[in-house]
Amino acid sequence: MVVIYLDSNATSKVHPEVLEVMLPFLSEQCYNPSSGYRAGKTVRNALELARQQLAELTGADTEELVFTGGGTESNSMALSSLAKLTKGKKIITGQIEHSSVLKTCERLAEEEGYEILKVGVTEGGVYELSMLEDFLAQGDVAFVSLMFANNETGVKQPIEDACKIAHAHGVPFHTDAIQAIGKTAVDVHQLGVDFLSISGHKFHAPKGVGALYIKSGVRFSPLVLGGGQEAGRRSGTENVASIVALGKAAEIMNKKLDEGDHLQVMKLRDLLQETLCSTIKGVEVNGDISLRTANTLHVSFEGCEAGGLLILLDEYGVACSAGSACMTGKQQPSHVQKAMGFSDKKANSSLRISLSIFTTEEEIVETAASIKKAVEKLRKVQGGSGVGPVVIYTK
Ligand SMILES: Cc1ncc(COP(=O)(O)O)c(C=O)c1O
Repeated sequence: MVVIYLDSNATSKVHPEVLEVMLPFLSEQCYNPSSGYRAGKTVRNALELARQQLAELTGADTEELVFTGGGTESNSMALSSLAKLTKGKKIITGQIEHSSVLKTCERLAEEEGYEILKVGVTEGGVYELSMLEDFLAQGDVAFVSLMFANNETGVKQPIEDACKIAHAHGVPFHTDAIQAIGKTAVDVHQLGVDFLSISGHKFHAPKGVGALYIKSGVRFSPLVLGGGQEAGRRSGTENVASIVALGKAAEIMNKKLDEGDHLQVMKLRDLLQETLCSTIKGVEVNGDISLRTANTLHVSFEGCEAGGLLILLDEYGVACSAGSACMTGKQQPSHVQKAMGFSDKKANSSLRISLSIFTTEEEIVETAASIKKAVEKLRKVQGGSGVGPVVIYTK
């Protein structure tokens, strides 16, 4: 079955060149990178090349990068170390963070008595830095963790400014950059952050591999103890094939960002947005359009349940996701939508469409037609008029 895959914020296809470089490390190059013989050293070299490739994509120094088992683990490692090594009984995070950050914060609150303060967002989904300032002014803050780009709306956050504000109060800063790395230029040193989380499967490496950037000189307490791999910061025999893949994906995406390929992705995303807005009534584009990552479109269709839309789109061969959260078979507004002030009705009629470097113009044209067909069908059944105006948010 041919699928038009437009859910790349959930996970992305492994790039064929990435697959090619990783396969030998699952067969003949099976050696442990910590082994002293020459074959082991060859594997170690491949691992260090991957670190170099990731350093080039992120602007980090190689020794500042620790390979992990994915984005969730990177977030967990950063937050637990910060909680352990910093003074202060308040944690500042945000209302639109990923559950891997929010749940870790909840546990720190339950088990260690931290007070969690959550920065709110504008209607366009952008963090309100004045709220961050106010929270920091209260004092007793252990650390700040705010995401770089939101997974639902794609909206990029003012992380460089937020980090400066936190540092001005002497408070360390972590950012979950999992939806940004490989999709938009990120320079860790320019950002000034102390910790930054990366996940491979969001940019054409396999699932279950990621990295944590730890700024040089920043103290770190490891979550996983054992054989002392990754300079003692993340023990466990390295997932060599996936790390080699992560490095290759970083190299590919770095080149594509340099060559402006993300602009091509943006062009296709904008073509889809324009086609939907000009051919369907009652369409609302969500999230500040001037701040989104190139690949993401979050859009609501008045009078259409997202659950129904997804079923029809699946039938037509288009895979994307609901903009809201599915709980016990019913669409519920997600915490991101609630933070942005969506009504339940609007939240439950939203789709998240996320493209990749593999998306073609033909797929976008076909998707636009499929969405129109699905919306018209549902409005007939569900009785929605869909006559509202087209709404697009800007700053
Ligand atoms: C913003 C964000 N943070 C964290 C994660 C978790 O990353 P992983 O799936 O690699 O554990 C995701 C994945 O959906 C994400 O979008």
